[in-house]
Amino acid sequence: MVELIGNEYFATPIWHADFEESSDLNAQLAEVVDDLYKDGSRGWSEDRVGGWQSSLDMHRDPRFGPFTALIREIMSEIETFYRIDPEFELCIESCWANVLEGRHSNAFHTHAGADFAGVYYVRVPKGSGTIRFRDPRQQPGLFSPPIEKFTTYTAQAVDFFPVEGRLLLFPGWLEHEVRANDIDSDDETRISISFNLECFRKSWIEKLGL
Ligand SMILES: [Fe+2]
Repeated sequence: MVELIGNEYFATPIWHADFEESSDLNAQLAEVVDDLYKDGSRGWSEDRVGGWQSSLDMHRDPRFGPFTALIREIMSEIETFYRIDPEFELCIESCWANVLEGRHSNAFHTHAGADFAGVYYVRVPKGSGTIRFRDPRQQPGLFSPPIEKFTTYTAQAVDFFPVEGRLLLFPGWLEHEVRANDIDSDDETRISISFNLECFRKSWIEKLGL
């Protein structure tokens, strides 16, 4: 009898969290984002196909306070999970709202420079596109045995359906895209909030105003 022991290396976690009783929070966030969107505040992204993104400093807007408080709870869990040096601490480096309508999408991209990136779903109309993550390793794409059923060890991409009140968090270098919506109604918009987290030395955080 041979005992075969498998250990995981080069793991790529994608976390999710469902915020409890999120409908009030989502209604507040949607009101803020709808107002900004209607006002035509400037967006910034080049990788989106249609749609709109707010400025990158929404985490400094007091109306986003209840949301960022929940993000900060998760940040401390990540620090523990990753065994981050206690001299350092995660900070919200940027935070922005996304509005997608009709057939809008976001092409494959990373959040270059961010240690972690996240997205939270505020409003998800029927037909909203999934978020797709691609296997960041190159070699598995060159050869793999015939697979009867794909698992986390063999899948080369994974899609997550957006769910209102759900947050996804992943390493900032992990490539992802937002697949095209198929929303028929002109009145409905898909709203999500994205954010980047970065580690800073605790003694710098106050000096940098983070
Ligand atoms: Fe992204």
